[in-house]
Amino acid sequence: MSRHPFDWIDARAEQRARAGLVRTLRPRPAESPLLDLASNDYLGLARHPEVTRAGADACLRWGAGSTGSRLVTGSTELHAELEAELAGFCGFEAALVLASGYAANLAAVTALTGFGTLIVSDSGNHASLIDGCRLSRAVTEVVPHTDPEAVRKALDGHDGPAVVITDSVFSVDGDAAPLTELATACRRYGAALLVDDAHGLGVLGDGGRGAASAAGLAGAPDVVCTATLSKSLGSQGGVVLGPARVIEHLVNSARTFIFDTGLAPAAAGAAMGALRLLRREPERAARGRAVARELYERLTTAGLDSVAPDACVVSVRAPSAEAAVRWAADCRAAGLAVGCFRPPSVPDGISRLRLTARADLTDQQIADAARVIVTTAPRG
Ligand SMILES: Cc1ncc(COP(=O)(O)O)c(C=O)c1O
Repeated sequence: MSRHPFDWIDARAEQRARAGLVRTLRPRPAESPLLDLASNDYLGLARHPEVTRAGADACLRWGAGSTGSRLVTGSTELHAELEAELAGFCGFEAALVLASGYAANLAAVTALTGFGTLIVSDSGNHASLIDGCRLSRAVTEVVPHTDPEAVRKALDGHDGPAVVITDSVFSVDGDAAPLTELATACRRYGAALLVDDAHGLGVLGDGGRGAASAAGLAGAPDVVCTATLSKSLGSQGGVVLGPARVIEHLVNSARTFIFDTGLAPAAAGAAMGALRLLRREPERAARGRAVARELYERLTTAGLDSVAPDACVVSVRAPSAEAAVRWAADCRAAGLAVGCFRPPSVPDGISRLRLTARADLTDQQIADAARVIVTTAPRG
């Protein structure tokens, strides 16, 4: 009897179930009774009336879709306006908006590397950067997490172009990359520095201008940043920021830019609305960071194992994948939505609850959230 071509999928599903790693979708209602510490809406802008209005207005004016790839009909004046605003806000010469942060990372990594390039990549980098390295045809050396000395060693002796790639804030533990030291190492060896600021834009730097701005690297001729519009800005989409010649090179060579439909006008409009708001209310960035620190203090004082947050991500370690799933479910039952990170989403194999601080949480909500997490924590 011939075997079915998808039988292997059942075998994989059984393996996953045995390891406690099954993932399921849980569609949320429009109005959820849960207190949200699971989303990436760090500044609480996804539902801010000014941001949703800007998105709706853009949709009505420009249409539901962008109608084509950016090089054909998918570039509207709104896209150009958003790119100028992002470049100006973050302090870079130019910007290019793509359909997602994932696409922005694939674009930046693949367009800036190729045969003969050495990529030096932090072991904690996001999956989209890792996939960019895989697609690049460059040699990738993965170095230990946040270790500038390891980066120096990797660059030493390499003859030819090199790019050092790092998240600014790592999505799993919420710790920051040593950008100043990395930039120094890059300059010593003539390497470019590519920083994914997905978790830094809107949170780090003066008024949320991002990690490169905070480190004094924004606008540097050898630094390129990527970011998503889907976290602090409460919208959707991605951006590459850098010198004008890099952005022009991407327009002409980045496959996830050229062969992808332009960002939907509603998303571009909402991101513009969020940037306008952030310029007017720069204190939102500092409030997000303060909420994260308050949450961290409360959890560690109660004996939980967490890493000091550098932005809005607060991670708490769990003894096992099963324990993390149960913990997240218990939080949920108590009215609190939290993220649950398990292999393969964690580079070190340690499962965690992943909490996101939001600038719009009240002190009472922070206290309630911490109480629920502590009282439902696995014992022993
Ligand atoms: C560090 C990092 N980079 C890139 C992305 C991808 O961004 P997007 O969701 O806009 O594709 C994410 C998460 O979504 C992320 O956490």
